[in-house]
Amino acid sequence: MRVFHLSAECYPVAKVGGLADVVGALPKYQVGAGLRAAVAMPYYDRKFTREHEFDIVFQGLTLLGARRLYFEILKERNNTLGFELFLVKIPGLIDRTEVYCYPDETEQFIAYQIAFLDWINWSGQTPDIIHCHDHHSGLVPFLLQHSNAYKRLGKVPVVFTIHNGQYHGAFSWEKLHYLPEIDLTKTGLLDWAGGLNPLAAAVKCCAQYTTVSPSYLHELTINSNGLEYLFYIERHKGTGILNGIDTDVWNPAADSMIASKYTAARLAQGKQKNKEALCSKFQLSSTLPLVAFIGRLVHEKGADMLGDAFEQSLKMHNGRLNILVLGAGDKDSEEALTQLKVKYPEHYAVFIGYDEALAHLIYAGADFLLMPSRVEPCGLNQLYSLRYGTMPVVRSTGGLKDTVKDFGEEGGYGIRFEKVAVEDICYSIDRAMVVYENMPQLQKLRKIMMALDFSWDRSAKEYINLYERIISVS
Ligand code: ADP
Ligand code: GLC
Repeated sequence: MRVFHLSAECYPVAKVGGLADVVGALPKYQVGAGLRAAVAMPYYDRKFTREHEFDIVFQGLTLLGARRLYFEILKERNNTLGFELFLVKIPGLIDRTEVYCYPDETEQFIAYQIAFLDWINWSGQTPDIIHCHDHHSGLVPFLLQHSNAYKRLGKVPVVFTIHNGQYHGAFSWEKLHYLPEIDLTKTGLLDWAGGLNPLAAAVKCCAQYTTVSPSYLHELTINSNGLEYLFYIERHKGTGILNGIDTDVWNPAADSMIASKYTAARLAQGKQKNKEALCSKFQLSSTLPLVAFIGRLVHEKGADMLGDAFEQSLKMHNGRLNILVLGAGDKDSEEALTQLKVKYPEHYAVFIGYDEALAHLIYAGADFLLMPSRVEPCGLNQLYSLRYGTMPVVRSTGGLKDTVKDFGEEGGYGIRFEKVAVEDICYSIDRAMVVYENMPQLQKLRKIMMALDFSWDRSAKEYINLYERIISVS
């Protein structure tokens, strides 16, 4: 079976968050299961593209409204990622350094989708399934069904995975003419609340949509930034498939980004060595419990509550607790988290920015990883922290609810809280402090965490079963 994954991100080519981790791992596991899985993503001028060899496998001209665009399809020569990687390059439009946030982002993502479809249409590369991820490729299912330009492809079925239902990629109707040769009687499928909405269009036109955890499937009908009713009426097409993790990349026994490799058998010493390396980097004492946060500093992740919550906890556990933050995002949160360092220089540290290697060291060296998310479609941080024997402290939502069981319950190993509130975060940190005081119990819990299996094997199979079901009825 031939599958193309379409995504704006793919680790290690270009990563902003968990979407990259998923699209960098799932196809590899699918190849392992016998599929011919490939990724086709926009070209970025980044380290990976500069350091790897590519062949131009296709050149074409396409139209974005009245604008003629020359494009190239590049293929990575040595398949170093374990699957075929194709990049859509359009000089002047899709050849930049950043993944998001350009003023012409709408044009970029539409052109990416059109160029991809033109390529497979003209080159006879018709796959059995196209698997689109998030709104950046959300127009593909509509175009396949309702554009004359792609008639030859014969309505390839599309699986659409929602990693984040808060972002829709909506744009105004004035840009409708960017979409080539579409059936104008079908444009209602593109509409939501008076705008042209790629996420809504994808949900309406795909064969099946999936969410990255079972709980999130239901949550979209309650909280999806205006698409709640759509998710309710289309729910018969939805399935929740929990993300996995790439156990080659996230493996404390083989991780070259951490200070000391360890297995569950050498857990106590292994974690302590990493904690010492991490603490010395930030001039914190390695004998105190260390609570860490890693992530985008945005409202969804509860970043706006962190400053107050950490201040209260550091005050309450005066001199007995250390806190470390790695993240970037909203300026107010960055500012509040930076300011805290002035008040608690010995027990608090922050790195504003993005640092992949530091993230690995934190998963290995911290004792607790806090995720007070308001919305968390799956969340990978808690899965990485479990694999490194670091106790996740999470709000009960989305994938966090599906993967973290409170240690107070039978077979539990993490800390969970219900409410989005500073007090609940502080209370959970208090509970973490109590766990830390009972080191033999914490070591036992860490062994349970490390034995959990969140690898992609199971979820990759679920996707394959879904593809097979779709193909059998299409
Ligand atoms: P999201 O995709 O919503 O940001 P996930 O939990 O799915 O959240 O994935 C986040 C990914 O990004 C993880 O691999 C995490 O380690 C990484 N990450 C987030 N922020 C940073 C940062 N500042 N530096 C390094 N890695 C980060
Ligand atoms: C999104 C979600 C996150 C999820 C990731 C990968 O960025 O916010 O919860 O883990 O996608 O699916």
